[in-house]
Amino acid sequence: MDTILILNGPNLNMLGLREPAVYGHETLADVETACRSAGERLNLAIEFNQTNHEGQLIDWIHQARGRVSGIAINPGAWTHTSVAIHDALIAAEVPVIEVHISNVHRREGFRHLSYISKIAMAVLAGFGTRGYQIAIEHFAALTSQKAAL
Ligand code: DQA
Repeated sequence: MDTILILNGPNLNMLGLREPAVYGHETLADVETACRSAGERLNLAIEFNQTNHEGQLIDWIHQARGRVSGIAINPGAWTHTSVAIHDALIAAEVPVIEVHISNVHRREGFRHLSYISKIAMAVLAGFGTRGYQIAIEHFAALTSQKAAL
């Protein structure tokens, strides 16, 4: 079974409490439950993690190399600042889908630059928490294409 790694960066543990007008009322545990049921439906193993520590996120990305078929990542504010996460994702050599709950492009100017988009195969922004499931569905389509070859 293929494994999809879902990674969340800083402050996403506050989902549901944090700026609900922007991010909604669902908690990160709700998002994890929805991702796990998408995984069951699509026959993918789901690993789901969140951290507020950049080095931890980088370690998880390195450990994904050669082991997982895709990374769906919501890097939170590190999207706009972290060359280190950009470099780690390149080093992992795993397809990446960047996920943002909000549409970062209609928000403040500092959210318009993403270091992650430069290396991502796809970017989802503004789909709310459904973006995570859309990413899983896309990886499912890619892995079943691969299996058919
Ligand atoms: C976010 C958007 C980022 O700009 C912000 O710093 C976040 C969440 C999103 O999911 O919309 O923490 O990645």
